Amino acid sequence: MRLPGPGLARITLRRGDITADASADAIVNAANSSLLGGGGVDGAIHSAAGPELLEECRRLGGCETGDAKITGAGRLPVRHVIHTVGPVWRGGGHGEAELLASCYRRSVELADAAGCEVVAFPAVSCGVYGYPVDAAARVALVALAEALDRHDGVREARFWLFSDRVLTDFEAALTALRPEG
Ligand code: AR6
Repeated sequence: MRLPGPGLARITLRRGDITADASADAIVNAANSSLLGGGGVDGAIHSAAGPELLEECRRLGGCETGDAKITGAGRLPVRHVIHTVGPVWRGGGHGEAELLASCYRRSVELADAAGCEVVAFPAVSCGVYGYPVDAAARVALVALAEALDRHDGVREARFWLFSDRVLTDFEAALTALRPEG
Protein backbone atom coordinates (compact mmCIF):
# COMPACT_ATOMS: atom_id res chain seq x y z
CA MET A 1 0.00 0.00 0.00
CA ARG A 2 1.18 3.53 -0.81
CA LEU A 3 1.85 5.59 2.31
CA PRO A 4 -0.36 8.63 2.67
CA GLY A 5 1.20 12.08 2.15
CA PRO A 6 1.09 15.24 4.30
CA GLY A 7 -2.69 15.52 3.93
CA LEU A 8 -2.97 12.97 6.73
CA ALA A 9 -1.99 15.67 9.24
CA ARG A 10 -5.13 17.65 8.29
CA ILE A 11 -7.44 14.86 9.45
CA THR A 12 -8.89 15.11 12.95
CA LEU A 13 -11.07 12.70 14.94
CA ARG A 14 -13.84 13.60 17.38
CA ARG A 15 -16.56 11.70 19.15
CA GLY A 16 -20.12 12.94 18.88
CA ASP A 17 -23.03 14.04 16.76
CA ILE A 18 -22.09 15.53 13.40
CA THR A 19 -25.26 17.64 13.29
CA ALA A 20 -24.03 19.62 16.30
CA ASP A 21 -20.95 20.86 14.44
CA ALA A 22 -21.45 24.60 13.97
CA SER A 23 -17.90 25.43 12.93
CA ALA A 24 -17.53 23.25 9.84
CA ASP A 25 -18.30 24.74 6.43
CA ALA A 26 -19.86 21.52 5.18
CA ILE A 27 -20.98 18.23 6.67
CA VAL A 28 -21.02 14.99 4.74
CA ASN A 29 -24.08 12.77 4.85
CA ALA A 30 -23.93 8.96 4.53
CA ALA A 31 -26.96 8.78 2.26
CA ASN A 32 -28.56 6.15 0.05
CA SER A 33 -28.87 6.38 -3.72
CA SER A 34 -32.35 7.92 -3.60
CA LEU A 35 -31.03 10.89 -1.57
CA LEU A 36 -34.49 11.04 -0.04
CA GLY A 37 -33.51 10.39 3.57
CA GLY A 38 -33.27 7.32 5.75
CA GLY A 39 -32.07 6.30 9.21
CA GLY A 40 -28.70 6.70 10.96
CA VAL A 41 -26.77 9.86 10.29
CA ASP A 42 -28.95 10.55 7.21
CA GLY A 43 -32.06 10.68 9.38
CA ALA A 44 -30.32 12.89 11.95
CA ILE A 45 -29.12 15.34 9.28
CA HIS A 46 -32.53 15.61 7.60
CA SER A 47 -34.34 16.04 10.87
CA ALA A 48 -31.94 18.79 12.00
CA ALA A 49 -31.93 20.48 8.58
CA GLY A 50 -35.72 20.46 8.07
CA PRO A 51 -37.85 20.02 4.93
CA GLU A 52 -35.90 22.48 2.81
CA LEU A 53 -33.03 20.00 2.54
CA LEU A 54 -35.32 17.20 1.38
CA GLU A 55 -36.84 19.54 -1.23
CA GLU A 56 -33.39 20.29 -2.59
CA CYS A 57 -32.46 16.60 -2.60
CA ARG A 58 -35.59 15.71 -4.59
CA ARG A 59 -34.32 17.84 -7.45
CA LEU A 60 -30.99 15.98 -7.64
CA GLY A 61 -32.33 12.76 -9.14
CA GLY A 62 -30.41 10.43 -6.82
CA CYS A 63 -26.72 9.59 -6.63
CA GLU A 64 -24.62 6.58 -7.64
CA THR A 65 -22.71 4.54 -5.06
CA GLY A 66 -19.23 6.06 -4.68
CA ASP A 67 -20.37 9.47 -5.90
CA ALA A 68 -21.45 12.61 -4.02
CA LYS A 69 -23.72 15.63 -4.54
CA ILE A 70 -23.80 18.96 -2.75
CA THR A 71 -26.74 21.03 -1.47
CA GLY A 72 -27.42 23.86 0.93
CA ALA A 73 -27.91 22.89 4.56
CA GLY A 74 -31.44 24.02 5.46
CA ARG A 75 -31.56 24.91 9.17
CA LEU A 76 -28.16 23.38 9.96
CA PRO A 77 -25.52 25.91 11.01
CA VAL A 78 -23.15 24.90 8.19
CA ARG A 79 -23.24 26.16 4.58
CA HIS A 80 -23.48 22.87 2.74
CA VAL A 81 -24.38 19.22 3.07
CA ILE A 82 -22.45 16.84 0.81
CA HIS A 83 -24.45 13.66 0.27
CA THR A 84 -22.36 10.62 -0.53
CA VAL A 85 -23.49 7.03 -1.04
CA GLY A 86 -21.22 4.41 0.47
CA PRO A 87 -21.16 0.77 -0.59
CA VAL A 88 -23.12 -1.93 1.20
CA TRP A 89 -20.59 -4.44 2.61
CA ARG A 90 -20.92 -7.72 0.71
CA GLY A 91 -17.81 -9.50 1.99
CA GLY A 92 -15.16 -7.23 0.48
CA GLY A 93 -14.89 -8.80 -2.98
CA HIS A 94 -17.34 -6.48 -4.72
CA GLY A 95 -15.26 -3.32 -5.09
CA GLU A 96 -16.33 -2.02 -1.69
CA ALA A 97 -12.94 -0.47 -0.82
CA GLU A 98 -12.67 1.42 -4.11
CA LEU A 99 -16.26 2.66 -3.84
CA LEU A 100 -15.73 3.80 -0.26
CA ALA A 101 -12.49 5.60 -1.20
CA SER A 102 -14.37 7.28 -4.04
CA CYS A 103 -16.97 8.67 -1.59
CA TYR A 104 -14.24 10.50 0.31
CA ARG A 105 -12.47 11.71 -2.85
CA ARG A 106 -15.65 13.06 -4.45
CA SER A 107 -16.71 14.74 -1.20
CA VAL A 108 -13.39 16.60 -0.94
CA GLU A 109 -13.57 17.62 -4.62
CA LEU A 110 -17.05 19.09 -4.15
CA ALA A 111 -16.11 20.77 -0.87
CA ASP A 112 -13.08 22.43 -2.41
CA ALA A 113 -15.06 23.58 -5.47
CA ALA A 114 -17.60 25.18 -3.10
CA GLY A 115 -14.90 26.94 -1.06
CA CYS A 116 -15.40 24.83 2.08
CA GLU A 117 -12.28 24.85 4.28
CA VAL A 118 -13.50 22.64 7.10
CA VAL A 119 -15.45 19.52 6.20
CA ALA A 120 -17.04 17.15 8.73
CA PHE A 121 -17.42 13.45 7.90
CA PRO A 122 -19.27 10.54 9.50
CA ALA A 123 -17.94 6.97 9.20
CA VAL A 124 -19.57 6.31 5.82
CA SER A 125 -20.92 2.73 5.40
CA CYS A 126 -20.07 1.78 9.01
CA GLY A 127 -23.68 1.57 10.24
CA VAL A 128 -26.62 0.12 8.32
CA TYR A 129 -24.33 -0.69 5.35
CA GLY A 130 -22.25 -3.02 7.53
CA TYR A 131 -18.67 -2.18 6.48
CA PRO A 132 -16.25 -3.51 9.15
CA VAL A 133 -15.12 -0.40 10.98
CA ASP A 134 -11.39 -1.17 11.19
CA ALA A 135 -11.19 -1.80 7.43
CA ALA A 136 -13.38 1.20 6.62
CA ALA A 137 -11.23 3.45 8.81
CA ARG A 138 -8.07 2.55 6.91
CA VAL A 139 -9.68 3.07 3.51
CA ALA A 140 -11.27 6.35 4.61
CA LEU A 141 -8.07 7.81 6.06
CA VAL A 142 -5.87 6.87 3.09
CA ALA A 143 -8.39 8.17 0.54
CA LEU A 144 -8.94 11.38 2.48
CA ALA A 145 -5.22 12.03 2.93
CA GLU A 146 -4.68 11.63 -0.82
CA ALA A 147 -7.62 13.89 -1.62
CA LEU A 148 -6.39 16.55 0.81
CA ASP A 149 -2.95 16.43 -0.84
CA ARG A 150 -4.64 17.44 -4.09
CA HIS A 151 -7.03 20.00 -2.57
CA ASP A 152 -5.23 22.61 -0.47
CA GLY A 153 -8.44 24.62 -0.11
CA VAL A 154 -9.76 22.04 2.37
CA ARG A 155 -7.81 22.84 5.52
CA GLU A 156 -9.35 20.23 7.80
CA ALA A 157 -11.27 17.00 7.35
CA ARG A 158 -12.91 16.30 10.68
CA PHE A 159 -14.49 12.96 11.54
CA TRP A 160 -17.42 12.80 13.96
CA LEU A 161 -17.52 9.26 15.31
CA PHE A 162 -20.65 8.25 17.09
CA SER A 163 -19.39 5.66 19.58
CA ASP A 164 -16.24 4.92 21.55
CA ARG A 165 -15.74 1.73 19.56
CA VAL A 166 -15.76 3.50 16.20
CA LEU A 167 -13.55 6.29 17.55
CA THR A 168 -11.06 3.71 18.87
CA ASP A 169 -10.88 1.95 15.49
CA PHE A 170 -10.28 5.23 13.67
CA GLU A 171 -7.63 6.27 16.21
CA ALA A 172 -5.82 2.97 15.76
CA ALA A 173 -5.91 3.27 11.96
CA LEU A 174 -4.65 6.86 12.08
CA THR A 175 -1.79 5.93 14.41
CA ALA A 176 -0.79 3.04 12.16
CA LEU A 177 -0.69 5.31 9.09
CA ARG A 178 1.27 8.18 10.65
CA PRO A 179 4.95 8.02 9.74
CA GLU A 180 5.93 8.25 13.40
CA GLY A 181 3.14 5.78 14.32
N1 AR6 B 1 -23.41 11.85 13.91
C1 AR6 B 1 -22.31 11.13 13.57
N2 AR6 B 1 -22.35 9.82 13.26
C2 AR6 B 1 -23.55 9.20 13.30
C3 AR6 B 1 -24.75 9.87 13.63
C4 AR6 B 1 -24.65 11.25 13.95
N3 AR6 B 1 -25.71 11.98 14.28
N4 AR6 B 1 -25.78 8.97 13.56
C5 AR6 B 1 -25.23 7.78 13.22
N5 AR6 B 1 -23.90 7.92 13.07
P1 AR6 B 1 -25.25 4.98 8.96
P2 AR6 B 1 -24.31 3.87 6.40
C6 AR6 B 1 -22.89 6.91 12.70
O1 AR6 B 1 -26.09 3.79 9.21
O2 AR6 B 1 -23.76 2.67 7.07
C7 AR6 B 1 -29.25 5.37 6.17
O3 AR6 B 1 -30.53 4.87 6.41
C8 AR6 B 1 -23.26 5.46 12.84
O4 AR6 B 1 -23.16 5.03 14.20
O5 AR6 B 1 -25.84 6.31 9.26
O6 AR6 B 1 -23.49 4.54 5.35
C9 AR6 B 1 -29.08 5.91 4.76
O7 AR6 B 1 -30.27 6.48 4.26
C10 AR6 B 1 -22.21 4.81 11.95
O8 AR6 B 1 -20.97 4.68 12.65
O9 AR6 B 1 -24.76 5.04 7.40
C11 AR6 B 1 -28.67 4.68 4.00
O10 AR6 B 1 -29.81 3.92 3.62
C12 AR6 B 1 -22.02 5.84 10.83
O11 AR6 B 1 -22.59 7.06 11.32
C13 AR6 B 1 -27.87 3.90 4.99
O12 AR6 B 1 -28.33 4.29 6.28
C14 AR6 B 1 -22.70 5.48 9.53
O13 AR6 B 1 -23.90 4.79 9.80
C15 AR6 B 1 -26.39 4.25 4.92
O14 AR6 B 1 -25.68 3.40 5.76
